[in-house]
Amino acid sequence: MKLLPYSLSIFFFLFMFIGSSQTNYEESKVPAFAIPDPLLTFSGYTINSVKKWEKVRRPELLRFFENDIYGKIPKNLKIDSYTILEQDDHALNGKAKRKQVELTFKNNNKTLSYTILLYLPKNKVKAPIFLGYNFYGNHTITEDKAVLISSAWANNNKSFGIENNTLTEASRGKRTHRWAVEKILDAGYGLATIYYGEVDPDKNDFSDGIHSLLYQQGQNQPKPAEWGSIAAWSWGMARALDYFEKDADIDASKVIAFGHSRLGKTSLWAGATDKRFAGVISNNSGCGGAALSKRKFGETIAVINDRFPHWFCDNFNQYGDNEEALPVDQHQLLALIAPRPLYIASAEEDQWADPRGEFLSSHYATQVYHLYGKKGIETKEMPMLNDPIHNTVSYHIRTGKHDVTDYDWENYIKWANAFVK
Ligand code: GCU
Repeated sequence: MKLLPYSLSIFFFLFMFIGSSQTNYEESKVPAFAIPDPLLTFSGYTINSVKKWEKVRRPELLRFFENDIYGKIPKNLKIDSYTILEQDDHALNGKAKRKQVELTFKNNNKTLSYTILLYLPKNKVKAPIFLGYNFYGNHTITEDKAVLISSAWANNNKSFGIENNTLTEASRGKRTHRWAVEKILDAGYGLATIYYGEVDPDKNDFSDGIHSLLYQQGQNQPKPAEWGSIAAWSWGMARALDYFEKDADIDASKVIAFGHSRLGKTSLWAGATDKRFAGVISNNSGCGGAALSKRKFGETIAVINDRFPHWFCDNFNQYGDNEEALPVDQHQLLALIAPRPLYIASAEEDQWADPRGEFLSSHYATQVYHLYGKKGIETKEMPMLNDPIHNTVSYHIRTGKHDVTDYDWENYIKWANAFVK
């Protein structure tokens, strides 16, 4: 997050250039390492009950992930007000109730607002819902003309018609394939989505987004143990859940945090830090998400911190090319979600996200689910392609690339029906 001196930047650039050409995609080159035991405290004490897990081990692990990986939230900030910007009880050809709800936050003489797009199944009193961020605005997830276009900063993207960091009509419906809205509604669930850039623009700049509302006097970037963007986006999901608790159309005890890729890292951290999320889905979340860091397969800590210096807290830099020093690994992040239902999904062609590392992580988290009498990923053998394992902890690897597909949603719905609903 800090600017490096010029000579150091050149060195770092060369190092990254050489380093990235060495991305490991070979299983035989994965280093040998011990899996940090979720049930052994940092001081060497064995945990054998839910009580000790919840009183001793879970809090110390959560603290570690907060201080050294995602960063702490400096202060509690509640919703100042919310406004129903728009509502239609006969949306999507009469299939759904649509609401667009703006949440507003105020602090330090600054204001931040973000808008939740909600599609709820008709004629259902209190619907369970999937909540997940989108990458390019709420209007990209559907052809529905009534969906408002965000005025927040966006990454330029030619194929989406996004220039000058501004979202326009050109990108309406561009991401419909990632959001199986009809299937979700037909199964009796609602969908809530938010453009993540409204909570914190995805760039290495901490003068904007939610961070800026919570600085102390004179502060202009998070401290080394304070929140990066992933923690900020997770925070935004939790505040959406605060709103759902006030919305009579939603069953706030059945909100499933969903996310793809960087937003899958986000849904995992949201589920770990807020126990009100009834279930969590990580779709292709990879490095800093579900994948084990110590495998150094595909994207590594050094590479992710270099390309996206704002995602994690500054303390995370100490583990770049130094994974051995990490006393934890990402399966312990998954374990923080126990005993709530958790779904980890990979894609065959998404080697950058280390599908095997994502799978093993769900397996090694399972021992904490066992404390609660729940089943998870009991085997160390990866399942065949398109052959999901459905338990309280679920896993699948599908054919195809880094993406969200109907196949993914069909499985999320089946799992939610069995373990969340
Ligand atoms: C990059 C990044 C990944 C991330 C992905 C995404 O590929 O390296 O860590 O998951 O972007 O969010 O699409």
